Amino acid sequence: MSSVNPIRKQTVSHIRARKGKAPIVCLTAYDALMTEILDPHVDLLLVGDSAGTVLHGAETTIPVTLDEMILHGRSVMRADPKSLVVIDLPFGSYEASPQQAFDTASRVLKETGADAVKLEGGVTQAETINFLTERGVPVMAHVGLRPQAVRATGGYKIVGKTDDEREAMRADIDAVTEAGAFCVVLEGVIENLARELTARIEIPTIGIGASPACDGQILVTHDMLGLLEKTPKFVRLFANLRETIGDAIGAYAEAVRDGSFPAAEETYGGGKSADVKPINSSPQQRNYQ
Ligand code: KIV
Repeated sequence: MSSVNPIRKQTVSHIRARKGKAPIVCLTAYDALMTEILDPHVDLLLVGDSAGTVLHGAETTIPVTLDEMILHGRSVMRADPKSLVVIDLPFGSYEASPQQAFDTASRVLKETGADAVKLEGGVTQAETINFLTERGVPVMAHVGLRPQAVRATGGYKIVGKTDDEREAMRADIDAVTEAGAFCVVLEGVIENLARELTARIEIPTIGIGASPACDGQILVTHDMLGLLEKTPKFVRLFANLRETIGDAIGAYAEAVRDGSFPAAEETYGGGKSADVKPINSSPQQRNYQ
């Protein structure tokens, strides 16, 4: 299958070396099961703090805790992924000082076994990124629209419409590159600015709502699978699993209510006979001994 990534284990050096080459494919992952499904197809998996909004019903990523990120990171790592695994440092766990960031990042790397961390911020976090990278912590930076800062910036706003914003973005991207980040997420950036920034630096840019001009793309997996109620403009629905799952659950509920599930073949030692087959009876179906 051409979409399957052939390389065994992706490293920070592999990702960095992809600058200007074949697009880097990234998605979010929060657990072992989904990681098993995604891993053969992608180069990088982000254990994003979007877990807070996608899985835990929060309105923003701000309430996400370090313990929650570590729990999700451990689950992802149990699938033994060959993609590079990056874990988001949650809001409040790194901004106070480079030392705080190092204490948090070392806990994340030790307790999960992941490859790198991601943090939000440009110029303001450059000293911290430098402190981490010099101490052996690979850092993915995240600039542009910063979800952890929406309380301060006034919401989820596209970046790059004014000269001041464009100048600030140039300063941010230069700062994180010089500080030693191995790649940088550009979120919510208008196309001509994303193109200019991507050409400006020697590390890969990974876009989310930042046009095809970036060196790679990332989406929140649950968004692109159509699991969420609302879909932002920059997301393409590659499936509509919300509808598929709703239909399957409806069929299950109906089968339980009308007595057609479980049928004889789904019953140990007898049961009433019924002419109903499961939609997907796979050889891997779990069986009790
Ligand atoms: O938390 C997350 O999923 C992210 C991506 C949107 C880049 O930071």
